[in-house]
Amino acid sequence: MTLKLTKDRLIIFDTTLRDGEQSPGAAMNREDKLRIARQLERLRVDVIEAGFPAASQGDFEAVKSVAEAVRESIVCGLARANENDVRRAGEAIQPAKQGRIHTFIATSPIHMEKKLRMTPDQVVDAAVAAVKLARQYTDDVEFSAEDAVRSDFDFLCRVFDAVIQAGAKTLNVPDTVGYSIPELWGERMRRLIETVPNADQVIWSTHCHNDLGLAVANSLSAVLAGARQVECTINGLGERAGNASLEEVVMAVRTRPDVFDCETRIETREIVPTSKLVSQITGYPVQPNKAIVGANAFAHESGIHQDGVLKHRETYEIMRAEEVGWATNRLTLGKLSGRNAFKTRLAELNIDMPNEETLNAAFARFKALADKKREIFDEDLTALFTDEAPAQETWRLVSSMFHSETGEAPMAKLTLWVEGQEIQAEATGSGPVDATFKAIEKVANSQTDLLLYSVNAITTGTDAQGEVTVRLSRDGRIVNGLGADTDIVVASAKAYLNALNKLCSHGERLNPQL
Ligand code: KIV
Ligand code: ZN
Repeated sequence: MTLKLTKDRLIIFDTTLRDGEQSPGAAMNREDKLRIARQLERLRVDVIEAGFPAASQGDFEAVKSVAEAVRESIVCGLARANENDVRRAGEAIQPAKQGRIHTFIATSPIHMEKKLRMTPDQVVDAAVAAVKLARQYTDDVEFSAEDAVRSDFDFLCRVFDAVIQAGAKTLNVPDTVGYSIPELWGERMRRLIETVPNADQVIWSTHCHNDLGLAVANSLSAVLAGARQVECTINGLGERAGNASLEEVVMAVRTRPDVFDCETRIETREIVPTSKLVSQITGYPVQPNKAIVGANAFAHESGIHQDGVLKHRETYEIMRAEEVGWATNRLTLGKLSGRNAFKTRLAELNIDMPNEETLNAAFARFKALADKKREIFDEDLTALFTDEAPAQETWRLVSSMFHSETGEAPMAKLTLWVEGQEIQAEATGSGPVDATFKAIEKVANSQTDLLLYSVNAITTGTDAQGEVTVRLSRDGRIVNGLGADTDIVVASAKAYLNALNKLCSHGERLNPQL
């Protein structure tokens, strides 16, 4: 056996802004995507899949803006294997310093027959035509065989052979339905690389869904078999049970250099800040025991463990919390901080202030918070922007009064701003939050179902801000609303109104996997 002195690069392809956005209610607007994309660039991901330009004009604009803003990562747009999608993706990535088109078509019998209603020959022709057209926009073309996990192996080889000849540079093998298990997935990758002609001329990639909780394990097995790109998302967001989680893949490869003969270029100290930002923007809280980015991921509870860690950290820790960006809450600003300090810190946190008016409004919110909360942390600053109204604001909370007393029905009295008009609403409920939502509904009559209500403390301490997520659904459309405040009932009202605003302002999106 020869000793390899240089390790291969493992390309990290982040699809939080595309597959991650397909999590129910996680639809992001242009500004949300830009903020996350800038943070992904700081994290040093190799490829940012910014969206699906043919899905809507909004997503087209979002991908284009990301392509304009990002310089250090490749910016990628997704396209089904048809002319319109590929052209839209090509136009959207046009401003990118490094742009990629990712085109895909399903190759499994069930998808070809039941969904596409195409013959295998037609699928090969469409794949080849899409790749050739994409090459007219960029040299960097990726092709995915959707539902590769349930595709006939020989047919997969035929499709991959054809798209390599057509000019694809990256071949992605997706487990679209999260059906594989690590041993089989690694084996499939190994056989593909051994069988497809000119396999060494392309990068082999894997894209695994988490329906059986095996997305990360399957992805790593593919890496051991020769894949050199992993498609993944922050916090494992994504369609249904999600995708392979970026932080877990990256830290597994980094923590076990004895196993993996490759390395990523990820700036691991940006992992936790990225996770928090994505959680705040999408309204998907991170479970406390989530590997790497969960609040308890580095907390030792049992006395034996605590004793061991105090004596020698490595008795119970395989990674350092600081290495992935956990730091004790950083005190950044306080009541006496001025506008310049505020502006500078926002810039350091990658929060853009498009104009003086927005900055002044944000500064006023910061001062109001600093009056209620003595110490302001980075998380508090980020939260100032989580319940920001969309461009078209319909609902806003002007003021509130709550009454809760033993033996009495809790009551909420609200003044709401509704399209320029102030309206009073009052209701009782089983608790103050229930009363608040009922009061809002007296005015809104939104005909929505409340799917989820959750509260998280943003920092530690009883004066911490509570961050509330409200998930509403109406006619099959799902939105997440966010609200933050030191008073969790106020945060709840803000989150509910934020969700209503989103319902009023977002257009429908196409799901590329339909
Ligand atoms: O899961 C999947 O197959 C996808 C493709 C579009 C790559 O997301
Ligand atoms: Zn997917």
